[in-house]
Amino acid sequence: MRHLLVMGNLKLNGSKHMLNDLITGLRNKLRSVVGYTVAIAPPVIYLDLVKQLLAGSHIALGAQNVDIHLSGAFTGEVSAEMLKDIGAKYIIIGHSERRIYHKESDEYIAEKFAVLKEVGLIPLLCIGESAAENKAGQTETICARQLDAVLNTLGAKAFQDAVIVYEPIWAIGTGKSASLIQVQAVHKFIRDHISRHDATVAEQITIQYGGSVNTGNAAGWFTQPDIDGVLVGGASLKVDTFSVIVKAANEVKKS
Ligand code: 13P
Repeated sequence: MRHLLVMGNLKLNGSKHMLNDLITGLRNKLRSVVGYTVAIAPPVIYLDLVKQLLAGSHIALGAQNVDIHLSGAFTGEVSAEMLKDIGAKYIIIGHSERRIYHKESDEYIAEKFAVLKEVGLIPLLCIGESAAENKAGQTETICARQLDAVLNTLGAKAFQDAVIVYEPIWAIGTGKSASLIQVQAVHKFIRDHISRHDATVAEQITIQYGGSVNTGNAAGWFTQPDIDGVLVGGASLKVDTFSVIVKAANEVKKS
């Protein structure tokens, strides 16, 4: 179901001490936030710790990756069933950092999507173009290709209850976010693309934006008709910045 989702992707950052401070601080500052979802995806080794720190709060647990296998001789991997067992709900797949550094293909990411659906977890499918592709006017072609890997293997119904995250690579960690107009247009394209397969699923899918979301630009995202939330990297590492972003959604929602 389409819902407002503000999630922090901590990437390869944190420690027991840092996470304790972060989650304790967020719990205090976000007490009044109701009516939409806030989630945190820590490094996999801290999932259980964060789950315990979140106990009794409204903040959901996310994870940053999953393997395509459910069990077996796959050294170093973590399965969807394990993520479910530990209490994670929102699982990021297809992040450009994994596509680039780990050479993950569209097809491989579609397999991750499938295994998450199989065990009942929510995939956050990240898609987005590079700076060069953007300059060459290929944004829609790239996004369509990345979506089609799932659409053509699993069908549009697989997107029911899933989340798509539009993260232009050039906006990630650069301090140079895409403009509201650009992002709204790409999100509409994404919804229209899915709509060609299934209009109901397209209307109900949650589409987040990610890329240099910060306290200064936070409020704008939530005013756009096809932007259903944000996936925050660097600014989710600090209580003060992440809580301002989360609360910006609250203010816009109220007004
Ligand atoms: P930044 O917010 O640090 O640009 O990272 C965005 C991102 O990659 C979230 O997944």
